[in-house]
Amino acid sequence: MVKILGIVDNYPYVKDLRKDWGFSALLEKDGKRLLFDTGSDGSILLNNAKVLHVDLSSIDILFISHYHYDHTGGVKDLLKVNDHLKAYVPVPLLHEDEELRSDLERNGIQVVQCRESMEIMDGMYSTGTMGVEIPEHSLYFISDEGPILVTGCAHPRIESIISRVTELSGKKVHMAIGGFHLYGTHGGALKKRVDAIYATGVERVGPSHCTGDNGREALKEKFGDRYVEFGSGVSLTFS
Ligand SMILES: [Fe+2]
Ligand SMILES: [Fe+2]
Repeated sequence: MVKILGIVDNYPYVKDLRKDWGFSALLEKDGKRLLFDTGSDGSILLNNAKVLHVDLSSIDILFISHYHYDHTGGVKDLLKVNDHLKAYVPVPLLHEDEELRSDLERNGIQVVQCRESMEIMDGMYSTGTMGVEIPEHSLYFISDEGPILVTGCAHPRIESIISRVTELSGKKVHMAIGGFHLYGTHGGALKKRVDAIYATGVERVGPSHCTGDNGREALKEKFGDRYVEFGSGVSLTFS
C-alpha cells in the first residue's frame, strides 16, 4: 500500500497549513518514507510537516524533481533535521544550482543522478530525466489499478510524461498527481493541452501547484468525477 500526503502546495486543504507557490509531498510504503520536493521555503515545509504530524527526521529518500526554487527551497532546512537521507536528482547533476550542490555535499548526502529510469525504493521508479532546457524527472509506482504518476512542475509536458510511464511500465497510467504547469495557458491552447492529457487515456487526475486555477477548472470539466482534489493536507492511498 502506498500513501501520498500533500505537504506544501499552492492549494492547502487543512487549517493552519501555510500556502506556498511550491510543491512537496510525502510518499510512504512499508514504513519507508520518501519526500518528493520541498516547496520554496524551509519554514513553510517545517510548519506544514508539524501541522500534519510528519516527522521529517524519519525521511529515507529525498526526490528532487527539478532545480527550481519552488521545489528545492526547503532542502537547507530539511538537512538541518535529517542527515541520513539519500537524494535522487535529475541530470545534469545539480544543473546551475551551486547552493543546492554545496548544501548536499556539506552534509555528506549520497546523491544519485537519474539519467535513465531506475527503481528508487521498493516498487517506486524515476521516469529518468526528460527535457533539455529544464531537466526534470518524475516518479511512478504500480498500484492494483495501474501506474500512479507524481510530477513536480511537468515542464517536459504532463502528456509526454504520462506517455513515458506507459512506455516504461507497459500499462495505461491510472492517475497523475502534482504540478501540470498549465497556469499560463488559456483559451484554445489550454483546451488543446487538456484534450492531449485526456487522449493519453489516464483514468484520473489530481492536479495541483502550477496547474493553476484555469488548468484545474478545465481538467475538472473534462474529467468530471475522475478529477481528484489534491493539495497540501490531502492524503490518498493506493493498494
Ligand atoms: Fe513548480
Ligand atoms: Fe518548475
